Amino acid sequence: MSAMSAHTHDDVNWAAKLPSMRRADALFGTALRAVADRLIRDLPAQATVIDVGSGSGGMSSALASALAARDRVREAEAPALVLLDAVEELLHAAADAARAARPTSAVGTAAAGTASGEGPESAATPVRVSTVLADAARADLSSLLPAADLVWASSVLHHLPDQQKAVDNLAAVLRPGGLLAVAEGGLDTRCLPWDLGVGEPGLEARLISARDAWFGELRAGMEQGVRMPYGWPAALNAAGLTGVTSFSYLVDHPAPASRQVSEFAVERVSWLTETVRDRLTDGDREAALSLIDPNGPHYLGHRSDVYLLSTSTVHYGWCP
Ligand SMILES: C[S@@+](CC[C@H](N)C(=O)[O-])C[C@H]1O[C@@H](n2cnc3c(N)ncnc32)[C@H](O)[C@@H]1O
Repeated sequence: MSAMSAHTHDDVNWAAKLPSMRRADALFGTALRAVADRLIRDLPAQATVIDVGSGSGGMSSALASALAARDRVREAEAPALVLLDAVEELLHAAADAARAARPTSAVGTAAAGTASGEGPESAATPVRVSTVLADAARADLSSLLPAADLVWASSVLHHLPDQQKAVDNLAAVLRPGGLLAVAEGGLDTRCLPWDLGVGEPGLEARLISARDAWFGELRAGMEQGVRMPYGWPAALNAAGLTGVTSFSYLVDHPAPASRQVSEFAVERVSWLTETVRDRLTDGDREAALSLIDPNGPHYLGHRSDVYLLSTSTVHYGWCP
């Protein structure tokens, strides 16, 4: 962990993940923009939106651009986007991404607007972006954050010791009528063909299964960790939210792999291998290592048949 960090509850070196998180942001960007549009659609004008565990800012940027496109207002009346993370390097990266976001008006036009750097949709976003460096597990979150119309928390709550308490604390930040949206779970990301021509077929499923066992141990060993033996919609209901439901979004980059997808696949298999290498059979470890060896004959980075297929679930409900 970096010296410039608030407390986290896992052994993950989040700051070191910045380059790979940025790569994922680029690949998930179009899907995130559609999710952002959907979530902000019914918020009041000049809404206050909070992105908890904002990472490298993929969703921060999508939210900024969606809000700016919806509320074309003067800066003094602009919507507010507050980013909260425990890692300062990531917080800066996310704030930069959100401030650079363009108020493009429709899904699929963000990249074009950003690339052109010209025209009415390329002006800097009027969204007021601010940051809070803090542990999202703090019980006094509502004293650190403004009352919110939308709180978004993606892939962060499962890193906190008491997930129900964390949901309760985030719900307490909402204004009456505000929306809490928690992105957790879905279907595991897949990148690899079933038979890779090295080792036994089905390696990716076994890497994911070993990752699940590692994650179970990480949670079980977390100081003051509390199990949440029910699903996220039940947690949102227990926090007093109403109308709780879920939807899932798909990220689909089929083969042949672009350079970005290829790098994503190498990165993902490298992370899985590093994380679970002691849990693999000798054969699987050898196969996995040969896939990420840039000088070997089986290097993933030289294959065009890798892909990126991922489904994430968003659970949401309203503060009465
Ligand atoms: C898996 S990343 C998710 C990033 C982004 N929300 C996404 O969905 O791509 C987890 C993020 O949560 C942050 N994080 C981890 N533990 C935290 C804590 N206790 N308090 C605040 N942020 C935390 C990490 O620094 C990282 O930015």
